[in-house]
Amino acid sequence: MAKGKLAYSCTACGNESNSWLGRCPICDAWGSLVEIEKHSGAQTLKDKSSVQSYKFSEILGSAEAPDRILFGMPETERVLGGGVVKGSTTLLVGEPGIGKSTLLLHLADGLSDRNDGRIYYIAGEESPDQIGIRGKRIGIEGKRLEIFPETDVDSILFELNQHEQSIVIIDSIQTLVDPGLDSVAGSVAQIRACASKLITWSKISQVPLFMSGHLTKEGSVAGPKVLEHSVDVVLQLDGNASGSFRSLHGLKNRFGSTNEMAVLEMRENGLVEVLDPSSDLISERPEGVPGSVVVPIIEGTRPLLVEVQSLVSQTGNSFEPRRTANGIELNRLVLISAVLSKQSSVDIIGKDIIVNVVGGIRVSEPAADLGIALAIASSALDKEFPASTAAVGELGLTGEIRKSIYIERRITELARLGFQRVIVPKSFVPSDSLNEIDINLIKVNNIEDAIKKF
Ligand SMILES: Nc1ncnc2c1ncn2[C@@H]1O[C@H](COP(=O)(O)OP(=O)(O)O)[C@@H](O)[C@H]1O
Ligand SMILES: [Mg+2]
Repeated sequence: MAKGKLAYSCTACGNESNSWLGRCPICDAWGSLVEIEKHSGAQTLKDKSSVQSYKFSEILGSAEAPDRILFGMPETERVLGGGVVKGSTTLLVGEPGIGKSTLLLHLADGLSDRNDGRIYYIAGEESPDQIGIRGKRIGIEGKRLEIFPETDVDSILFELNQHEQSIVIIDSIQTLVDPGLDSVAGSVAQIRACASKLITWSKISQVPLFMSGHLTKEGSVAGPKVLEHSVDVVLQLDGNASGSFRSLHGLKNRFGSTNEMAVLEMRENGLVEVLDPSSDLISERPEGVPGSVVVPIIEGTRPLLVEVQSLVSQTGNSFEPRRTANGIELNRLVLISAVLSKQSSVDIIGKDIIVNVVGGIRVSEPAADLGIALAIASSALDKEFPASTAAVGELGLTGEIRKSIYIERRITELARLGFQRVIVPKSFVPSDSLNEIDINLIKVNNIEDAIKKF
């Protein structure tokens, strides 16, 4: 075979370059470029391909929904699209301490109860003892579960080929090393190389593979997310590590929708699925104090009630009052504050504003704008927002309140949990079936109007 040309690849971010550089121009790492052999396209041209093409009509004829393996956590199964697909590869990402290992142990236990095969848990991060302590605390029996404390990917593959497995869990992909590479564990080159070997093994053996990966606060580009395109499913476990609620979303799913979300609660005995999240998320709402508004958001196909809290206080920094956002984007908060300041009578000049979505839920829907604005207004005016009232609507730059999607679904959920009034955009026209629901709609045109009506 003709020898390839020499090129250089950065061990930190995977960037390739034709010449050696002391510093990677993409990620700025020093001394990270190593020599690799690169084959030009012409050299790889073949006389004949070993794969065949298929007629689409034939594929259609034999196409069936994939087999799913269940593990007794219906909410998590729903996020996966209805269970684990044979031969699928899933990456579970989240910040350290959020509960990835705990969730994977629950999954392993559930699968071990329902399957004959071995469940193989590759522990790169924790010792078997540590996993045992966690297992005991969260009540895992794990009859068919085996823990393998190995980080060398070749040894792992050797071991996997010795027995039959029904599922393989890697905790975490950042701890594995491919001995054929110079770079350290956790570098992009190592993550890619190890994951690629394991994914190929999983596809050939049809054994589902789960891998966990830590995300840093910045959402780290040079981390496990580089695997997003090579796995079938990416799940993200999110939440405020100091609070007890976690949300599990699909960021990518080749076998289902990415719109579904599950709410889990971290308890002493592990992660427990929350079956009526709306009711749990608003259960500890303070009554009779300003700054708290319930907002109905839509997660996937389901409405979810969340409590938005705000605290507006005199700033200690007169040059630049602070804006702090937990659970919503800071830019969104800046925008909503600017609209409030310009288009309403609420005085927030020289005030620090903190907004927090209770329970560690992240709200990205514009439909929550009005609720967020009213929480801020309620705190700034020191006026309680009634506990039996909620608000939904988008906020425009001129202070106008616009219609959001699925308003009826949101209102129905509010009515189910006993809310009596909802502030909605004036343009919203309820259907006949909504008219039968016992809830008052308070229609508003703009933000000032909404503030006057609560
Ligand atoms: N004794 C305990 N009681 C309740 N929760 C605990 C206990 N020990 C650990 N936890 C919870 O488990 C979390 C760690 O979960 P873990 O699955 O190890 O996270 P990850 O694998 O994502 O780093 C802690 O942040 C804490 O919320
Ligand atoms: Mg862990």
